[in-house]
Amino acid sequence: MQEPIQATTLSQHIMASMPPGARGVFTRIMMELQYCAHMLSTMIKSGGLSGQILGFTGEINVQDEEVKALDDLANRVLMTRLANSGLFAALASEEMDDIMTGDPEADYVIALDPLDGSSNIDVNVSIGTIFSIKRKITEKGGVEDFFQPAKDQVCAGYVIYSSRTELVMAIPGSDVHLFVLDPMTGQFVVDRKLEPKDDAKYYSLNEAYWDKFDEGVKDWVRWLRREPTPVTGKSRSARYIGSLVADFHRNLLEGGVFAYPHQKGKKSGKLRLLYEAQPMTLIQTCLSGRASTGWDDLMELVPTEIHQRVPLIVGTTPEVEKYEELLANSEPD
Ligand code: AHG
Ligand code: MN
Ligand code: MN
Repeated sequence: MQEPIQATTLSQHIMASMPPGARGVFTRIMMELQYCAHMLSTMIKSGGLSGQILGFTGEINVQDEEVKALDDLANRVLMTRLANSGLFAALASEEMDDIMTGDPEADYVIALDPLDGSSNIDVNVSIGTIFSIKRKITEKGGVEDFFQPAKDQVCAGYVIYSSRTELVMAIPGSDVHLFVLDPMTGQFVVDRKLEPKDDAKYYSLNEAYWDKFDEGVKDWVRWLRREPTPVTGKSRSARYIGSLVADFHRNLLEGGVFAYPHQKGKKSGKLRLLYEAQPMTLIQTCLSGRASTGWDDLMELVPTEIHQRVPLIVGTTPEVEKYEELLANSEPD
């Protein structure tokens, strides 16, 4: 990263790559997300002293999960700010039953996981916000706009709130950059361009579900444990935090594969296609990796419901392809 006083800000970075004649709408969208990320980062780092971020609200959300105070707060911050921006035709959130329609003239829709890693909030472990921006394809903006494959996202990214607050975003056909939030100015600044990793140094999955995995998934885990990585010939190590943003982020930076497979009686796994799988799929693919359900290429899979769940295997290409190979003769039960 450059000296703070010379650092390239997120807005400068986006404007430098804008085609001639662009109206700057995308820059304004990213500025709204930056505003929300800065606000959430500040609240999180206040250590819950304001009393707004720890514990449960007592509600159960559309995912049938207990809502944490910070889930609710993050959702309200993002929805209020984005709905008032006039930049979106529709908003979808993991925390809301239905989409929220916005300005019918706007060109974009956005899907959000306002707070990823809820189980880690109260124990001071990394959490994040995930976003996926698509171009509106209907006349006035509706649920069908979200039913586009991951490859058709205009931009996808996440913010990770940890010892630093960082933003990673991907635009198809462009380099993927890592930005760091400067808490003094509230601006993300360019840290570096990310490079593809060929070697999965790490694998991340919740092995507590071992007895619920089918034989193909177990064979894959045995393969990861047994076989050295193709490039450096080293053994892999395991890391699992339970916040997708944190597990994915480490694997993206260091080389690795994340898996939340289907399980017996839970054939779609847990993670949500719109809010979690599609954004991570685009980012990973822009860095030469892959994402799959085991049967479907996640760049191509077309959503049919806003809260649809899918198995998610995302990371370095050889590891994802091996998963598909080992699952090829089976079907989710
Ligand atoms: P969220 O907090 O948005 O509901 O997401 C939680 C997700 C994801 O972050 C993580 O990868 C996964 O849940 C962990 O689930 P398990 O506890 O079943 O491993
Ligand atoms: Mn999540
Ligand atoms: Mn969430």
